[in-house]
Amino acid sequence: MHITMIGGGYVGLVSGACLAAFGANVTIIERDTQRLDCLQAGQVPLYEPGLEALITQQQQAGRLTFTQDLAPPLRDSQAVFIAVGTPTRRGSGHADLSYVYAAARMIAAHAPDNLLVVTKSTVPVGTGRQVAHILRTTRPDLTFHIASNPEFLREGHAINDFMQPDRVIIGLEDEAQTASHARTLLEALYAPLHTPQNRLIFMGIESAELTKYAANAFLAMKVTFANEMADLCEATGGHIADVTRGMGLDPRIGPAFLTPGPGYGGSCFPKDTQALATSARQAGTPTQLIETTIAANEARKRRLAERIIALAGHNITHYTIAVLGLSFKAHTDDIRQAPALTILPLLHEAGATLRVYDPQAMNAARPLLPHDISYARNALHAAEGADMLLILTEWPEFAALSPADIAPTMKGRLIVDYRQIWQQNDWQKVGFNYHGLGYKI
Ligand code: UGA
Repeated sequence: MHITMIGGGYVGLVSGACLAAFGANVTIIERDTQRLDCLQAGQVPLYEPGLEALITQQQQAGRLTFTQDLAPPLRDSQAVFIAVGTPTRRGSGHADLSYVYAAARMIAAHAPDNLLVVTKSTVPVGTGRQVAHILRTTRPDLTFHIASNPEFLREGHAINDFMQPDRVIIGLEDEAQTASHARTLLEALYAPLHTPQNRLIFMGIESAELTKYAANAFLAMKVTFANEMADLCEATGGHIADVTRGMGLDPRIGPAFLTPGPGYGGSCFPKDTQALATSARQAGTPTQLIETTIAANEARKRRLAERIIALAGHNITHYTIAVLGLSFKAHTDDIRQAPALTILPLLHEAGATLRVYDPQAMNAARPLLPHDISYARNALHAAEGADMLLILTEWPEFAALSPADIAPTMKGRLIVDYRQIWQQNDWQKVGFNYHGLGYKI
């Protein structure tokens, strides 16, 4: 089967490489010349474990190619996936759909008859129908099949998530039609998954679009709930780890996404909660839970910055804070909406000297942080002479450090761990003052 994937970004690259590994012939369209050159040379311009190796392997096998020109590969394709960005439009919570609609118009210009057009980007409810409208009004001479196939990949685990999904959601124009062309083609494409058939979940296009947003918004809400319970534990003497373990053993709740942290970030939860809240407001059914989640998450990052300043003794003009972790979570170089981007400027504004280290995200963070922050070679270098050590990302290499590594390099004895990577006791017994989340100090 020949597939064209429009967009050589995160979703397009992972989906394209994995579909090639399933045996499809995949051409990824990337408009940016510099990025295209990188990809053609087998270099992946983002950090995702295993992706570069998979892409190289599929390129060598002749199943994966990159090009700028949509027309030639599209002519021979049975399906085209739209995997372009849908960022938040400035000044509003709306998803910017201009790239999606531009892709639809390009497809219309070069499509063969009987093409299946699949939206893979995260798009607000109603977008799939709009794509269908663009295609059919531009090219009434052709037959198009339309589907929505949102992705549920987590950064840092994307290949595994694609190869072994909990479910594959497929929205069809006419879900009642059990033997449609779109359904047959997508079943064939995902056949190598070896997941039980019922993991391919067919539904209407609107439901598929909403499923993606609802899942992300629910998870964002779950994390925010854990963060609020952590605050309550701190105020009342409970311990969040015990509370979430007790809650999570109830299968109706489940243990995942109940670890408190400095607030959720990334390119998905913040953008998708905003977009869902906006769609709901427009539809006249505002989602109060999501709106509150968004506000609570924003407030949390600022409140934690204030708490750090208070822990440091309020006057922090001659105070050095070593910061471990900048990315919004471990195993990614993604800095988008990371708590560090809110917390560090506030600490800097209060006068602290900041020395930061992240194994992957320093290049991405540099232009977004105050210019006189210094960047360390490694975690121990960041800690040298510091008054406080602040953990913002749960990288395993930080968790592997012990008090014996850190104590000789630091000047002060204060650890603020907002990712629960260490045990409080291990530090307290060697004289450190250790502040985590979700228990009374
Ligand atoms: C998220 C979803 O998990 C994926 O299913 C989805 O496909 C993806 O968005 C997307 O829409 O493309 P991702 O943004 O990679 O994936 O990150 P998550 O692993 O979900 O973490 C999101 C945020 O929540 C991070 O800031 C993380 O630190 C935080 N988090 C997560 C917590 O603070 N506590 C938890 O227990 C779990």
